[in-house]
Amino acid sequence: MSLPSLSMPADWPALTGLDCLRLADFSPSDLTQLVRLGREVKQLSALKVPFEPLRGSTLAMIFDKPSTRTRVSFAVGIHELGGQALELDPSTLQMARGESLEDTGRVLSQFVDGIMMRTGSHEKLAQLAEAASVPVVNGLSDDFHPCQLLADLLTLYERHGRLTGLAVAYVGDGSNMANSWIEAAALLGMGLRLATPPGYEPDPTLVAWGRALAARSGGSIHLSHDPREAVCGADAVYTDVWVSMGQEAEQAEREAAFAPYQVNRLLMQVAGPDAVFLHCLPAHRGLEVTDDVLDGPQSLVFEQAGNRLHAQKALLVSLLAPRVR
Ligand code: CP
Ligand code: NVA
Repeated sequence: MSLPSLSMPADWPALTGLDCLRLADFSPSDLTQLVRLGREVKQLSALKVPFEPLRGSTLAMIFDKPSTRTRVSFAVGIHELGGQALELDPSTLQMARGESLEDTGRVLSQFVDGIMMRTGSHEKLAQLAEAASVPVVNGLSDDFHPCQLLADLLTLYERHGRLTGLAVAYVGDGSNMANSWIEAAALLGMGLRLATPPGYEPDPTLVAWGRALAARSGGSIHLSHDPREAVCGADAVYTDVWVSMGQEAEQAEREAAFAPYQVNRLLMQVAGPDAVFLHCLPAHRGLEVTDDVLDGPQSLVFEQAGNRLHAQKALLVSLLAPRVR
């Protein structure tokens, strides 16, 4: 059996030392290479081939919001690459007593090789990245979730062998997930059809940016309020929670507005039998998606969650490993 040639540095995107705050931090070819590297890393893992280019490296992880997948996949991923994760509880850091985020970033850079942070304000992440001298990775902000998209793209790439030209229907909230999907579609030339309730559309500035880039990449960004129109003929149907972390006060109002946007068996029938169902998880069963879709034959959600590990290992290797020429 021939093994993927991961010892060849040319296989790695040239991203050493860069931050990953949003997908638009990468060029289309770097993003494509990251996804391909994710698949190769996954193959090595399945073959139990040790791949530890980050031996001796430490990744600091700071979570201002809850997490299951991001927390565990980063911790396991850096461990499998030969390094270690250091989870820092923000309430026990001196930041809780007023030390600035910038000073914290400068200090952490003295000790660790990368920082992954989940927080609300994207601006806060940008400030951390500006101050830190090591790569900073966005583990979710209110605006973007690039690491989730890497796993989503890997999942679709495994299924179709390509990303360019795929049609993705995104049904639900114009959330951080929708924003990251706009970036992915624009960069990679995918057709993205977003169906949101009126008033919950993604940021128009980002949509305009995405459309301008999509015009060059061969992709498209289509907005509507009609979930059936969005999913018709789609290769993938994607949804996110109706109430994101931090929006709990809007729960009742959001549940009322989003009820016609539930992904259920009838909507998947409109999409057709070849469409796959994706969800970033955690899912709220019976709200944005029904059990029969989430657990049904078109659902790839648990493989998709598993791909967080492989996609992020590719990201960590690309950002943190020294390139050897
Ligand atoms: N999809 C995702 O980011 O999951 P967690 O919130 O569990 O990390
Ligand atoms: N939009 C969701 C994504 C969770 C992974 C949130 O921000 O809570």
